[in-house]
Amino acid sequence: MAQLKHLLGIEGLNPVSVTNLLDLAESYALLNRSGKTQRDSLRGRTLINLFFEDSTRTRTSFELAGRRLGADVVNMSVATSSVTKGETLLDTAATLNAMNCDLLVVRHKSSGAPALLAQKVGASVINAGDGTHEHPTQALLDALTIRRNKGRISGLTIAICGDIVHSRVARSNILLLTMMGNFVRLVGPPTLLPGSIGVNGVEIFHDMEEGLKGADIVMMLRLQKERMTAGLIPSAREYFTFYGLDRKKLSYAKPDALVMHPGPMNRGVEIDSEVADDAARSRIKEQVEMGVAVRMAVLDTCARSNY
Ligand code: ASP
Ligand code: CP
Repeated sequence: MAQLKHLLGIEGLNPVSVTNLLDLAESYALLNRSGKTQRDSLRGRTLINLFFEDSTRTRTSFELAGRRLGADVVNMSVATSSVTKGETLLDTAATLNAMNCDLLVVRHKSSGAPALLAQKVGASVINAGDGTHEHPTQALLDALTIRRNKGRISGLTIAICGDIVHSRVARSNILLLTMMGNFVRLVGPPTLLPGSIGVNGVEIFHDMEEGLKGADIVMMLRLQKERMTAGLIPSAREYFTFYGLDRKKLSYAKPDALVMHPGPMNRGVEIDSEVADDAARSRIKEQVEMGVAVRMAVLDTCARSNY
């Protein structure tokens, strides 16, 4: 695979590099399932997880991925670090870099923070979610989950529903899924959809019945209240009535349509438990499992470009 020093976004990848990452991740997914999890391709390498925003899935799976490849993994706790004494992001990163860290996994509330760090440090920088900009490993793990279940990652109709405007997951998925030749629909109230998408071929719907008609994949998103500056929905209850995914709304999609959600879920707000926990239709747990495999592939690929 071509060199990939940093992974800052799906922007910058192409269909070949995406396919190569998914193929490598698929092989790690099989190994992980077989119980043969320990490898040593990152032995002697140091990975630092630098999360300025909360995370359950992404931070844990990067840690597991790094350990399974034999890396030394350090989780920096921002809350108890010298960031609280006023140290800047760049000084913090330069300090970690001086300890000869090889891989720096960064989540930050500001869009563009990982790209800025990538210009300043010698380590490979991997974006674990920056503001409303991108969450590339989420889009890759979503693509792997879709490919495993549908046998392909092109020519599918994928409805991304809910709070699109605040979602870095939606942005990375729109870029990846359109690049691979899928039909992407965005479904949500006008207040939660961006003014312009900037990507050709993406359709907009405000009605779940229309937006889900004929969809192969229904991808739900959390209402990201922490990024809302004004009341953009009347109430959580009303939102659920019109946009929450329940059995009835899911029936508008294809009979074999699969349900996805990046997590964390707000049950009863954007998704009904009956649908989220339906093993026949929901792939939410598999998404989490694929997160480890995809992050192993990304760490491995980025580390190799550093040799
Ligand atoms: N966990 C994802 C993110 O960090 C989605 C979400 O928080 O709703 O972007
Ligand atoms: N999907 C996702 O990024 O989850 P976390 O915020 O828990 O990492």
